[in-house]
Amino acid sequence: MQPRITAKVICTDREVGEVSYVIADPIAKSVSHLVIKADGRESVVAIDGLIAGCTEREVRLTCASGALAAASAPFRRDDFVTIHDVEIPHLERNLDQVTPGGVLVPLPVLEKDLSRRQFFTRFTNVIGAMLALPLVFPVVRYLIYPLYQPFTNLWIKLGAINAMGQEPGVPKLFKFQKTVLEGYITRHYEKSHWVIKLTPELRDKIYPNGDHEFRDDKGTLIWVNKKDADIAVLSGKCTHLGCAFRWRKHKRFGQVFVCPCHLSVFDPSGTVLDGPAPRRLDVLPLKISGSGEVEIIDMEFKAGKAEQVRIA
Ligand code: FES
Repeated sequence: MQPRITAKVICTDREVGEVSYVIADPIAKSVSHLVIKADGRESVVAIDGLIAGCTEREVRLTCASGALAAASAPFRRDDFVTIHDVEIPHLERNLDQVTPGGVLVPLPVLEKDLSRRQFFTRFTNVIGAMLALPLVFPVVRYLIYPLYQPFTNLWIKLGAINAMGQEPGVPKLFKFQKTVLEGYITRHYEKSHWVIKLTPELRDKIYPNGDHEFRDDKGTLIWVNKKDADIAVLSGKCTHLGCAFRWRKHKRFGQVFVCPCHLSVFDPSGTVLDGPAPRRLDVLPLKISGSGEVEIIDMEFKAGKAEQVRIA
């Protein structure tokens, strides 16, 4: 039997639809089922003993439409593949009259179980990952541990307070060496901050709310800069992008800090007068040791942010 796709399917009492696929039995090498399309729905019917006659245009059945409906099952395309996909040449030769692509064979059971196999593959991977975790975790923790070390808050000596000038409001640059452990590498930097002798006006500008508290991210108090201190230390990093700035005479603002990178201008208290800097210069924790050394905690804050975000 070589039914054509779109051939009409006619029962003893009426036409019931048209052939949309034929399903072949790869072992018997012949058609075993028809897929009949009617009213937009497709159903599968076993044709054994049902065929009364078959031409290119119609397939006549030996049963009434009611009996056919009872014997049919819903068609699920995913349960079948075309014979071209699975390459069954003897079957293709046997059914060469059927429109190409119209002959299906049932999907092998193992292929149908693909999702279940995938599940077992993934399940095996998860088990493997769980077994590997106790080995990998200590290594990962060892590698990333330095990144999550709390800030050290070490006091660093900047220099003798006697080394700065006597003139209030005139800052002096103090350079120092800083040793930093970055991951597992120790680096040495030369850094600099500005120390300024305070006038009442500068005090009010630097400490508008009185004594200035420094706290860690958990809110624990680290240090308090007293407003009535003689000096203050301003970070040497511009708050725009972190460049070093200079103490210069400016045509418009007089003696100020000028950052050469993008021309931010700060007054002696660190307040922004001009340029793209998003916040005032950062004030650092400061103390004077018994021997007259200016000591600081060399805090670093994220550049380019209006608020202070500590990064070191
Ligand atoms: S880094 Fe100072 S103005 Fe841009």
